[in-house]
Amino acid sequence: MTTSILITGGAGYIGSHTLLEFLAAGYRPIVVDNFGNSSPEVLRRVEKLAGAPVRWHEGDIRDAQLLDSLFEQARRDGAPVDCVVHFAGLKAVGDSVAEPLEYYDNNVHGSIVLLKAMDRAQVKRIVFSSSATVYGEPVSLPYTESHRLAPANPYGQTKAMVETILADWCQAGAGRTAVNLRYFNPIGAHPSGTIGEAPRGRPNNLFPYITQVAVGKREKLSIFGRDYPTVDGTGVRDYLHVSDLAVGHVKAVEYAQATPGWVAFNLGTGRGTSVLELVHTFEAVTGKKVPYEFLDRRPGDLAGMWADPSAANEKLGWRATRTVEDMCRDGWCWQSGNPDGYV
Ligand code: NAD
Ligand code: WQD
Repeated sequence: MTTSILITGGAGYIGSHTLLEFLAAGYRPIVVDNFGNSSPEVLRRVEKLAGAPVRWHEGDIRDAQLLDSLFEQARRDGAPVDCVVHFAGLKAVGDSVAEPLEYYDNNVHGSIVLLKAMDRAQVKRIVFSSSATVYGEPVSLPYTESHRLAPANPYGQTKAMVETILADWCQAGAGRTAVNLRYFNPIGAHPSGTIGEAPRGRPNNLFPYITQVAVGKREKLSIFGRDYPTVDGTGVRDYLHVSDLAVGHVKAVEYAQATPGWVAFNLGTGRGTSVLELVHTFEAVTGKKVPYEFLDRRPGDLAGMWADPSAANEKLGWRATRTVEDMCRDGWCWQSGNPDGYV
């Protein structure tokens, strides 16, 4: 039987790259996005890259009627939804501290509305965008999936809460599957430079800040902390190419179709890179200078964190293949060709 995949938040940074991978793999994706942090232009570009139309609907995952109608429409079209890939959510840590209720409402309440609609439509599989941030202060590194969960901010709490809700949901019904993907630090862009990360306003994250300095939109990078117990005193993270992360979702859907129950997988490379190492690699790959200054540590930051991705390597058959050089080259291709993002 032909089936569809519903992608919530499919116009976002990770969602758009994943949408492209699903189209390339021959799936029938349907996107729902409220464009709160994206725009329809993203989907037009994905259509161009894929050489195929994208089915999409503007709307919010907290709108139960809309979700019912999407599931019903797919059924009438002869390709009922078999699995939901759930990206839709808010993701700025600082905003989550300032506006916690917005985060609990969008990320937790939104996920509950979605699961209830899935129940009504008898859709039993979901792949959820979780985050390495659920682990919090490392007890040991690399993080394995059994590391204790101790999120340090409301955003991280929403991810841990939805993981728990999904565990209970799987427990309560036969044949239900929830694959929780704990992403490390996705950066870069599709190698064509056609789609990429387009933060609104001042970037919160390191890589888009670097590319915006390189393209002349910002004067210099502020490096938060130079006295961490790391290779050069700056923070260490496990950066992975967004296209590798996108492929991980196709593998996760295949896994969900074969294996019922709740499971969590780290998606990372297993290698740490410091802020200075990333800046220097970016400069070497692109030939662009990135002026920087050192500031105090950013409150709440960890010194270092990276993944043990062996469970995903073995059980999903997934491995990150692209290098930090690839991430810098592709991220620069996107930023230099689209200095103002999708505008
Ligand atoms: P993004 O903001 O680019 O994408 C999220 C998309 O969801 C946007 O297109 C937005 O408009 C949409 N959206 C938000 N709330 C919605 C709602 N209520 N209804 C419908 N659409 C809604 O973010 P991203 O970086 O692509 O992240 C995708 C997911 O991955 C998020 O859940 C995020 O928390 C998670 N994640 C991201 C990172 C990262 O570093 N980017 C790391 C770990 C986890
Ligand atoms: C990386 C390193 C900073 C900006 C955050 C969220 C996490 C996840 C990914 C969703 C750190 C340093 C940064 C800057 C800097 N998102 N830095 N100057 O903090 O690992 O993770 O995004 O789930 O939840 O917390 O990523 O890119 O913000 O920072 O020196 O302007 O770069 O101190 O060492 P982080 P990041």
